[in-house]
Amino acid sequence: MKITTLVEERTRVPGLKTEHGLSLLLEKEGEYWLFDTGQSGIVVENARKLGVRLDDLRGVILSHGHYDHTGGLSAVLETAGPKKVYGHPGLFRTRYSLRKKGKSRRIGIPRGRSALESQGAEFSLSREWREIASGIYLSGEILLAPDSAPAEPFLTIREKLKLKPDLFVDEQFLLAETPTGLVMLNGCCHTGLIDSLRHVRSCRPGEKIRAIVGGLHLRSTAPRELAAIAGALAEYEPELIAAGHCTGEAAEKVLAEKFGSRFRSLRTGVELEL
Ligand SMILES: [Fe+2]
Ligand SMILES: [Fe+2]
Repeated sequence: MKITTLVEERTRVPGLKTEHGLSLLLEKEGEYWLFDTGQSGIVVENARKLGVRLDDLRGVILSHGHYDHTGGLSAVLETAGPKKVYGHPGLFRTRYSLRKKGKSRRIGIPRGRSALESQGAEFSLSREWREIASGIYLSGEILLAPDSAPAEPFLTIREKLKLKPDLFVDEQFLLAETPTGLVMLNGCCHTGLIDSLRHVRSCRPGEKIRAIVGGLHLRSTAPRELAAIAGALAEYEPELIAAGHCTGEAAEKVLAEKFGSRFRSLRTGVELEL
């Protein structure tokens, strides 16, 4: 199995484009899946430069409705033609980031469902844990610990014309089976890494979580809490943590110190053989 980072904020490969967002290409048993699409469509150019044929995609998975994971879908469909697109029914909800006094910015999926369908998206939306192809699973809604609270209440969702802190009910992770354990792909992990890992345990009890890849959303996490999360993560004994996007530089440093060569910083162009 192979994972190629098509979009992330940074790169060491000359000629590849970067932006705030995430897109990972998963190659498993000769089939290609796109997990998130970045924000602007540079995923298409980067794929071309890396020799990836998006026409061959078996499907696209959208981890959650934020623009930096869904905004590239339109460009992908334009290039690759009609595709099945997997996600949660809450994907199209209206979302805003509220920063300074009264200032808000739309951060939801930039195109509507019917516009994307007219471009060839065939949506398959579900709240449930499900197997979308042999050995590839989507988490469905992630069960949260009873005491969990929104880590970033300025990230909001519109509900009955009011903006409320987004609980990211629509966020899903992907699990891919390998002969030596599960590989977990995260978009932003807004619901929290440890809750997400507990969810893996409840869906696949007793199975090894071999690798954790993607955005871990620890950029707003306090240093003491980062150490606790790294400690809790170590109990799962992952062989690889490849993190980037919203993980945050401070958290990447903590994870690199804790996990040594088992940690990798995810950058545009990075390939992982698993
Ligand atoms: Fe993100
Ligand atoms: Fe996000």
